[in-house]
Amino acid sequence: MGTLKPQDARRIEALIGRMTLTEKLGQLTMMAASHTVTGPVIAGHSTDDIRSGRIGNLLNLIGAAAAREMQRVAVEESRLGVPLLIALDVIHGHRTLFPPPLAEVSLFDPEAWRMTAREAAKEAAADGIAMTFAPMLDISRDPRWGRIIEGPGESAWVGRLLAEAKVRGFQGTDLAAADSIAAVAKHFCGYGAVTAGREYASVDISERALLEVHLPPFAAAVSAGVAAIMPAFTDLAGIPMTAHAAMLRQRLRRELGFEGVLVSDYNAIAELIQHGVAADLIEAAALALEAGVDIDMVSGAYLQGLPAALERGLVRISDIDESVSRVLALKMRLGLFEDPYRRGAALESAATLAERRRLARDIGARSLVLLTNREDALPLAESIRCLALIGPLADAPAEMRGPWWSAAEPDTQVSVLAGVCEALPETQVLHARGVDIDGEDGSGMATALELCDRAEAVVLCLGEAATMSGEAASRAHPALPGRQRELAEAVLERAGARAIPVIAALFCGRPLIVPWLVSQASALIAAWFPGCEAGRALADILTGRRSPSGRTPVTWPRAVGQIPLYFGQRSGGRPADPANRYSSRYIDESNEPLFAFGHGLTYGRFSLANVRVRPESATETSTVEISVDVENHGGRRAEETVFLFTRRLKSRVAPPLLELHGVGKITLDAGARGTLILHLPARELRSLGPDLAPALEPGELEILVGPSADRSSLLSTRLTLLGQPPRRS
Ligand code: BGC
Repeated sequence: MGTLKPQDARRIEALIGRMTLTEKLGQLTMMAASHTVTGPVIAGHSTDDIRSGRIGNLLNLIGAAAAREMQRVAVEESRLGVPLLIALDVIHGHRTLFPPPLAEVSLFDPEAWRMTAREAAKEAAADGIAMTFAPMLDISRDPRWGRIIEGPGESAWVGRLLAEAKVRGFQGTDLAAADSIAAVAKHFCGYGAVTAGREYASVDISERALLEVHLPPFAAAVSAGVAAIMPAFTDLAGIPMTAHAAMLRQRLRRELGFEGVLVSDYNAIAELIQHGVAADLIEAAALALEAGVDIDMVSGAYLQGLPAALERGLVRISDIDESVSRVLALKMRLGLFEDPYRRGAALESAATLAERRRLARDIGARSLVLLTNREDALPLAESIRCLALIGPLADAPAEMRGPWWSAAEPDTQVSVLAGVCEALPETQVLHARGVDIDGEDGSGMATALELCDRAEAVVLCLGEAATMSGEAASRAHPALPGRQRELAEAVLERAGARAIPVIAALFCGRPLIVPWLVSQASALIAAWFPGCEAGRALADILTGRRSPSGRTPVTWPRAVGQIPLYFGQRSGGRPADPANRYSSRYIDESNEPLFAFGHGLTYGRFSLANVRVRPESATETSTVEISVDVENHGGRRAEETVFLFTRRLKSRVAPPLLELHGVGKITLDAGARGTLILHLPARELRSLGPDLAPALEPGELEILVGPSADRSSLLSTRLTLLGQPPRRS
């Protein structure tokens, strides 16, 4: 967070000295404006409460004029004139939407991740917002969990990179700048491991899993200077994170050195009562404050409970003052004391907005993952005269937003139909919805099937509604909802009779389990939710104007029973062997995923050869150079993505089958060759010993390089790690 200047620290101390208890608690309270801003007054008694100092922070207030007016009430009409902190979930853009985080992770490009956060920050700041509840850094290996779409996916290494890129993007180089906003890393910690992928369920993971998988992205966010962190709704082995002093005060503040603000999740302090660890709001408030939570989001527990908790001796006034001082320090760092109206003042030019939409189209196209492409069904023939767009997502602009659309208007999203018509002005584009996203109505089926008799190719637009993923959207059946499978199978059959290609685009917030579609469609694209330029981005890929380059950031299971399925599993003592019943496998399903982590095709055709490592042995201070030759045998220029994995051959703790340590990209013309070089600092190869302490364990390491985590696609070489042998315990 950075330390305050001495004069600022003195100013904060003096301000706290003048505050009544209510004013202090107001600074620790954040209330929702619920988007229901009608003129200068927000819902309920909030405006009066801002005036009286009972509310010091707001969320869900949209619009520069409303933000300015509320700020004016705080600064000009409250006794001490402390500016408001105005926050919103700006998750993947504010008015201009980019693809949601997991979709964006498909790019494997931290600079792109930073750029979209920067643009989102500029737009949000122009609307008077000073803080976003992002990035979400919950590692998840469970596609049943709807929030998998909001985060980095299954890899902690990716989570670290995403954390750093997003914090830098949102916060810019100067948090006080008019176009910077404070980032909130969430949800600390382990939320992505909810039992059975069920929203808000309990989390019970090992200390090793916590340290190896779930904490590293947060540590990276802290190192990048994240302004605030949000504890998860969930409990960790029985202790709700909102009351987890050992995790918040000890681990986060003392061990990771986090000095910023801890803001509770929505109503989470009051929910300590439901968790069963507090009898009432007084105890709930005391537990959260003792754990180090500074801001109470909407539960009112601090305002209502802390005065009694003080009287009962459950909390000390010094703890309250400490939290107030952290909140004021953040407001100061945001430049709010200097000029509370600095955000929300500048109008963005039409040229800036157009440029941002160009970026959204670029990122949208790069987030699409071409999962299969039989007989080069894609790109579509340039001469195509008649194309059928079938399915409930073909003309569904609002759905293209995905979850958390901030202030993005539904009618500013480009549908697939609009994008394809624009891209193919000479082609007759037929369209039929067929069935709804969900529900039983099949009355549109016949019309849709008739289109298959006229078209030269079909693009099936299938998937989930935007609200089927994100918060409170766990699915026990993460497959196509409603009657979409029936529609798709009928289309495949009808089109199959004429031998015309059927391209399926899946709009989804998670890997959908569709092995039947994989085996029947001519091509399959994981489109996720591509954002405001969705239709144009997809058309760019369908027409071959661009080669696809996205890679799946999560392993795609072929059956729900395989979940959790991820590349970093350990082998166990009886690794899977199809010929051996007593090995680690299912008797009714293969162990293999539908698609491995990192899988994604391009319009090129790449081969890798000759992987080298230099030097061949390394100590903790070395940086190893890994190079591999890449050739594009295909007929088109394309970008190839190469992953760098490692595997320890032997170690004191059973090693994961693969550990991700790098990603590189190379763009090659048809027929061209090149060499890709990746750098691996050996200290990254430290692992946690039996005592959970990090150390570089000497020994042999396999270096594996290739286009995905599919073992059969990886080239392998060796690296020897030198170092002090670990002490025997
Ligand atoms: C979510 C958070 C979000 C908050 C504020 C909660 O329900 O869990 O991720 O930031 O609401 O909207």
